[in-house]
Amino acid sequence: MPLMSSQRLKNGSPLLLSAIAVLLLINAAQAQDNAETDTTSKADNSVQTSVFGHLPDGRQVDVYQFTNANGIELRVTNYGGIILSLKTPNLTGEFDDIALGFDALEAYLSDEYRQASPYFGAIIGRYGNRIADGQFSLDGENYSLATNDGSNHLHGGQKGFDKVLWQAEPFENDSGTGLVLRYTSEDGEEGYPGRLETEVTYTLTDNDELMVDYRAVTDKATPINLTQHSYFNLKGEGSDTILDHQLMINAPAFTPVNDTLIPTGEIRPVDGTPFDFTQATPIGERIEQDNKQLAFGGGYDHNFVLARDNAASDELVVAAKVWEPQSGRMVEITTTEPAIQFYSGNFLDGSLTGKQGQAYGHRSGFALETQHYPDSPNQEAFPSTILEPGDTYRSRTVYRFSAQQDFEE
Ligand code: GLA
Repeated sequence: MPLMSSQRLKNGSPLLLSAIAVLLLINAAQAQDNAETDTTSKADNSVQTSVFGHLPDGRQVDVYQFTNANGIELRVTNYGGIILSLKTPNLTGEFDDIALGFDALEAYLSDEYRQASPYFGAIIGRYGNRIADGQFSLDGENYSLATNDGSNHLHGGQKGFDKVLWQAEPFENDSGTGLVLRYTSEDGEEGYPGRLETEVTYTLTDNDELMVDYRAVTDKATPINLTQHSYFNLKGEGSDTILDHQLMINAPAFTPVNDTLIPTGEIRPVDGTPFDFTQATPIGERIEQDNKQLAFGGGYDHNFVLARDNAASDELVVAAKVWEPQSGRMVEITTTEPAIQFYSGNFLDGSLTGKQGQAYGHRSGFALETQHYPDSPNQEAFPSTILEPGDTYRSRTVYRFSAQQDFEE
């Protein structure tokens, strides 16, 4: 309070002095208040909201930034629920952004990006991966879905959940900070039956986990298979290939595909094939082998059937672990899902430029998408993906980030 110089105090009348005393008291009380506000805002600092841009129809798109107690920083937008960046420490404590993506909304809306369709960081729905010819029948009715991958339906169609604006609500709870995203997919959207109310929750914990919870209800029976399509390069996005990353997938079998990447229906043991990742193996070690399945995918682009043993369907099991020797970064994925798609970034061809101004080259990121098997609505022998009215779809996947000297520590 600059007005209260000692000069003014000396010259002050008793009335003025008592007024000053009252002011001082008020000031002290305010200081205490401010201290409280500071503490709250300190906690609030772990969630920061800003404007990302606007969609062509004028709707505002936001970015939410979360930081955990160890400095891990996650940025998510409510457009497609896209994870824009994820900064995690290497062995020596240096942080790098390990998620492929862009800094500007325009990059996600561009024709170039739509044509390339890598689905960087996005929520995928209503159905992750492919449904053959976009056709299926359910309760005696035939349904035709939007097709967007040759004659097949891929990742929800022309305008899947990766391209819609979600309602977002940041939160803080005992597990950490995060974002609840809500989207209602209307009856008939992309050809699907039923009005589907979807909720996806991202939680960043102080245990260095990113927890993704999916929940949905419908008013008509519908197929549903939600996933998250983040690509990681554990050396940092914009680095060269992921072929030196060591991968373990807890899967004794995979589902072979035809030349349009639709499962043939067979569930084939991985034993003795380049698909055996039950022991950690560099991704690139067998990727160029002369193998029909690898040829169909242009590398790995396959659904791995997880060893769930007797785990209940709501129980998390280890799905995969990836470790990068140079940085020591490791990501461990646990899930309630029965399978995981391992995609080795085969369609990346350098035509898209990422956050560091580096072109995203062939196999410069990998995606591990927890899921039900592709084309399940047409494959009786696969676990069902049909959600009935009155039931609730629930799924959880947890990514845990660490840095360590060896694959196993
Ligand atoms: C999934 C598919 C791939 C490809 C990528 C995105 O992994 O299986 O074939 O569509 O998504 O490009």
